[in-house]
Amino acid sequence: MMDTKKRSIIKSLTWRIIAVVLLAVTSFLTTGDLRTASLITLIYHSIQFGMFFIHERVWNMVSWGRSHGLFIQMTGMSGAGKTTLAKIVQKRLQQMGVQAEVIDGDEYRLNLCNDLGFSKEDRNTNIRRLGFVAKVLARNNVVSIVSAINPYDEIRKELSSTCDNVKTVYVKCDLETLKERDTKGLYHKALLPDGHPDKIYNFTGISDPFEEPSAADLEISTALEDIEASAKRLENFIVKNIQRKYTSTSPGSGI
Ligand code: ADX
Repeated sequence: MMDTKKRSIIKSLTWRIIAVVLLAVTSFLTTGDLRTASLITLIYHSIQFGMFFIHERVWNMVSWGRSHGLFIQMTGMSGAGKTTLAKIVQKRLQQMGVQAEVIDGDEYRLNLCNDLGFSKEDRNTNIRRLGFVAKVLARNNVVSIVSAINPYDEIRKELSSTCDNVKTVYVKCDLETLKERDTKGLYHKALLPDGHPDKIYNFTGISDPFEEPSAADLEISTALEDIEASAKRLENFIVKNIQRKYTSTSPGSGI
């Protein structure tokens, strides 16, 4: 993100005030002469002030060494650990100074996608909308992680083909483990007999398809390793991809 001119000027001024005081005190302590100390401080800082401002503006124009956006489309069944992993990694990226956003299917279904159900058509529309948000964020240098079941390979491929800065991450977990975890109680409800008032229909993995991704860039098996190991692999994968971006492509390329 580029600082406005006004912000750059204010930043240079506050920094200058600190530096002026430091140099004035040091010069006076060294020379013991107030006039010489003032002269040194005045000349040095007049030059420095202009140089600092130019230095800041020039660096703002250089994209080398800055992280570029990335769009991670996760896929995996409900309860596999997509959002948990995405949120852990989001926090770590932010601590490194990388902007990151989790676009969570559950959350978006309460607002932007609250008109959609769980038919194939609605799921595809849902993923297209989440993908659109992710692309917009990614082209503004944000690592955007779409955490949704995203069950159909065709739509995953469609999103992958719309930009070159998208990676597919399969968060894999077998059905038996998911049924045991059942953190939201949804598998229990999906397995209730037909006609039961609490039954959930068209539930992914039970009564609706989940197509394994044919071209995942990263596969994480949450039943086979602990959450820390999975988070570390996702973090490393993202860091590697945003680093490669800043050495191998020109600014603004990709999405
Ligand atoms: S997607 O298929 O369109 O990608 P999305 O990730 O947005 O789905 O939403 C899935 C979440 O909705 C699940 O984690 C679960 O909490 C809830 N849900 C409610 N009904 C269903 C259903 N029939 N199938 C899958 N998830 C459901």
